[in-house]
Parts: sequence; C-alpha cells; structure tokens
Amino acid sequence: MTSLSDLLLLGKGADLSSERGVSCTGELPEASDPTLVARATTARAALGSKAMVLGHHYQRDEVIQYADITGDSFKLAQAAADNSEAEFIFFCGVHFMAESADILTSPAQKVILPDLAAGCSMADMATANQVAEAWKVFERLGIAKKSIPVTYMNSSAAIKSFTGENGGTVCTSSNAERAMRWAFEKGEKVFFLPDQHLGRNTAVLKLGLRLSDCAVWNPWKSNGGLSDDEILAAKVILWRGHCSVHGRFSTDNIAEVRERVPGINVIVHPECQHDVVKNSDVVGSTEMIIKTVSAAPSGSSWAVGTELNLVKRLAAANPDKKVIFLDKTICYCSTMNRIDLPHLVWAMESLVEGRLVNQIKVDERTAHHARVALERMLALP
Ligand code: 13P
Ligand code: SF4
Repeated sequence: MTSLSDLLLLGKGADLSSERGVSCTGELPEASDPTLVARATTARAALGSKAMVLGHHYQRDEVIQYADITGDSFKLAQAAADNSEAEFIFFCGVHFMAESADILTSPAQKVILPDLAAGCSMADMATANQVAEAWKVFERLGIAKKSIPVTYMNSSAAIKSFTGENGGTVCTSSNAERAMRWAFEKGEKVFFLPDQHLGRNTAVLKLGLRLSDCAVWNPWKSNGGLSDDEILAAKVILWRGHCSVHGRFSTDNIAEVRERVPGINVIVHPECQHDVVKNSDVVGSTEMIIKTVSAAPSGSSWAVGTELNLVKRLAAANPDKKVIFLDKTICYCSTMNRIDLPHLVWAMESLVEGRLVNQIKVDERTAHHARVALERMLALP
C-alpha cells in the first residue's frame, strides 16, 4: 500500500487512470476480514481532505459510519454542488445519485461509486428511447409545448437531460410539491417521470388535483396505453414507474399496526402507493422522516414506511420512543445494500495506491441539459 507521503504526491497532475467498469472481483477484501474497519479507517485518514464521503440514509451502518455528510438525495446533491474542495467524492448511494453529483461538481472533481452494480430499479423503468417515443406522441397531439417535464431525481442522466432540454426541472421527494407548482406556472400539463406514486401523491394530496386528472403512461404499450382523448384531458401524465421497496407497504400494514399499537403515528415515504400515503399521518423524504421522529415527544410511537437500514438506525437513536418498521417482513433496498464495507475499502485503498476505480462520469452532451434541470431544482423557491 502507498504511504501517506506517496499519497500526498497525488494531486491534480497525478496520472490516475479512470477504470470505470472495472471488475473488482478477486481484489475485494473478504467480508469476513477482521481488519476491515481498521483498513477503512487508515485509508480514509490517508485520503484526508482530498476526499469527501457522502452517504445516503439507506446505507448500511458499516458504511454510513465513514460518511462526512449523510442525507436524502436533495441534501446530498446540494452537498456535492456546494463542495469545490474535495477532489474525490465517494458516493455511498446509488448510480443516479453519483451521476447527479458528477454533473453538479467541477470537471476536476471525480465521483466514485464503490460498487457499479448499485443501481435503482425505478430509475431503470424509464429509458431515453421510451421517453422520446412518448414525447413524439405529445408533439403529434400538439401538447409538447404546453407540457412541462418534472423528473424525479431517481432517473438516469439521460432523462434529466431530456427534462432540461424541454423546459423542465428535476425534483426530489423533499421538493416535489414546489417543483410541480413551478411546472404548472410554466405550462398546462405536467409530465412526471418515472415514479407514478410520487407524482400522484404530489398532484392529489399536495396540489389538490383529482385522481381523474392523472393519466398513467405505460411505456410498454402503444400510445402509452391511453387514447388520444385521455392524454389531452389529463393534467398530469404519470410515467408507469415505481419503487419495489416502497411498493410493498400496504393499507393492511397500517390497519394492523394501528390495532396492535393504539395511538401510533404512521410516517411514510412519498414513493409509497397513494392509499398508503393517504392513510398515514405524515409523509416525507428520508431526511424529513428522521427529523420528524427525532423531534417527536418522548414516549411517542412511530411506524415507519421506508427502507430498513434507516428505520433500524432511527430506532436505535431514539430509545425513548417506540420506532418500528411498518411491514412485518424484511424490506431492504438491495441495490443500496450493494455498497458494503469491502467495496468502500477497495475503492478507498485503490485511490490511496493511485488508482481511480469506479468513476462515474456523465458525458458533457448529456450533462449539459441535465445540469440545467438540476440547477432549476436547486433554485426552486
Ligand atoms: P430521498 O430523497 O427521500 O432520500 O429518497 C431517495 C430514494 O431513493 C428513496 O427510495
Ligand atoms: Fe430505488 Fe427504491 Fe432503492 Fe430508492 S429504495 S434507490 S427508489 S429501488
């Protein structure tokens, strides 16, 4: 391993080879290696202020302990945009978050995703070609100019780029209401991608639209599975995407927990299905869920409908309250969980040795318009 003095030679002029797509098989430390924590601590210290570690709230405990900043996807995007010092940003989260960080940082800064397999099944539900096909239908019907795309952060850089190019904005779970109101000031219709639940919950529960004002565009069906009249009549056209983790929570879960724990508060993420959100007491982003439960009175009870790593940490941090998982069965996000300590150690030690691995780099053509859409979001009132 390179010594600290060698590391200090690593600078902007150092010959770091980008190895995006490299397989780390065979180089990964064993998950059972008893020195993993010590190795991570040493590598992190060696990297010092050249590196910043961002950790999404769904990350494992073994990883989140190394995060300089933890947050929801909005807070982490902001942290990346605000930091111009760290040359290397280790993104402990999923691919679309690392892409956004790359777009929002300077060309000299490099974003690293410790495991390239950490994707998001919801983001994969909208491809650039499918969205372009839908837009062609909007053009044929004469509604493209009146429709403002609002793309959830959980989408590829290509979809964000489409959004920026067509006058729209990115949103996250913490600002979807503001983004949708902004879009309705600009146009007559909102084209919401790719999470139908966040789009529906925002349109109906925050903006007061009717369920019948929303139409669902199915990318696997001709004309999105809609008649021209249905498309023309809709105020919000929702892409047919969803999160398989949050889609598991049901109104039966809520009824069961309310019966079991009288007086319990139900707090859920807005990626949950509409009926689940409607029957909950509080809805919000991961950051908002943490803040709400942490600020709640001692002795209060909370059933939390979001990813399990977050809920377990929240319960441990609030021993004076009853904090339980809304579902009775396990519900981790398997792709968030791809980032484990062996991958983080591998990525950090590689850098200490002068090898940049798993860099996430969005090509400038895509990044240009995606940046416009992300900056519109960061500037939302
Ligand atoms: P937050 O923006 O609330 O952190 O949500 C991101 C996410 O992927 C939830 O599934
Ligand atoms: Fe994607 Fe759902 Fe995992 Fe969030 S919880 S990263 S939306 S699969």
